[in-house]
Amino acid sequence: MRDDRQKGGLDFVAGKGRPLTDEATIEATGLRKLFGMPGHETIALEDFSLAVAKGEFVSLLGPSGCGKTTALRILADLETASSGTARIHRRKGTDSPSNSMVFQEHSLFPWLSVIDNVAYGLEMRGVAKQERLDRARPFLEMVGLAKFANHYPGQLSGGMRQRVSLARAYVNDPDVLLMDEPFAALDAQNKLIMQQELLRIWEKDRKTVLFVTHAIDEAIVLSDRIVVMTAAPGRIKRIISVDFPRPRNAAEMRADSRFGNLSLDIWRTLEEEVLTARAQADG
Ligand SMILES: Nc1ncnc2c1ncn2[C@@H]1O[C@H](COP(=O)(O)OP(=O)(O)O)[C@@H](O)[C@H]1O
Ligand SMILES: [Mg+2]
Repeated sequence: MRDDRQKGGLDFVAGKGRPLTDEATIEATGLRKLFGMPGHETIALEDFSLAVAKGEFVSLLGPSGCGKTTALRILADLETASSGTARIHRRKGTDSPSNSMVFQEHSLFPWLSVIDNVAYGLEMRGVAKQERLDRARPFLEMVGLAKFANHYPGQLSGGMRQRVSLARAYVNDPDVLLMDEPFAALDAQNKLIMQQELLRIWEKDRKTVLFVTHAIDEAIVLSDRIVVMTAAPGRIKRIISVDFPRPRNAAEMRADSRFGNLSLDIWRTLEEEVLTARAQADG
């Protein structure tokens, strides 16, 4: 496994404001985010620079409160950075959105049927009813929920709801998927199933993904690179390449001795950050 130890998180940037490579789809340079009143600010993110190549699957891994969600929200334009720049490079000639977010839970509209939830982004873009349904259906099939098109989110299990969220993100055909701990609320077995499902779906067209997680094994199974963050104020501590071949099988990967070694290596990087975050929470 290649190890790109980072100094201040800037190794990946060729120069401030300049693209690292033409192929970079996601590009953050020197992001800093402060919350709160002047004089009483919390630094949520510090000196965060990252370029994600087209078709790359990158995870942000770090203790709770280290700024993972903040980084994602800045990239999604749901939040403005206090300084630094964040860009998602667009494909030419498309009316699809630059990004779709997939959240941990509670992101479906409970009053809309499953198919209407999946088609919601299309509706927002003014696509007519029949066309929306026609376009949404294959994505429901993709996540194995064709039979549940007319159910409501409240009638589904947590795992099924996250499949709907995935279908809803995919139907928009965004340039990048931003996923914020989408499987965190699932039980252990459903988590494994959803990781394998995501691998399968992602393999079809290898969208650029930035995936937030606090689980080391999940990051290894899914990612090409793992970005380990420090406890608050969140900085990039280290970036690790995961050289397991694709297509991957999540269960077989876990049985591989390299998986154990890598996961121990990552834990050694993460442990002090988790302890620091815990001390911050206690104090
Ligand atoms: N809207 C907000 N207002 C004030 N503080 C916030 C807000 N959002 C996040 N924070 C703070 O910023 C820090 C990073 O939060 P977050 O990005 O949610 O971390 P993570 O997703 O890694 O758990 C935390 O200290 C959090 O309390
Ligand atoms: Mg978060």
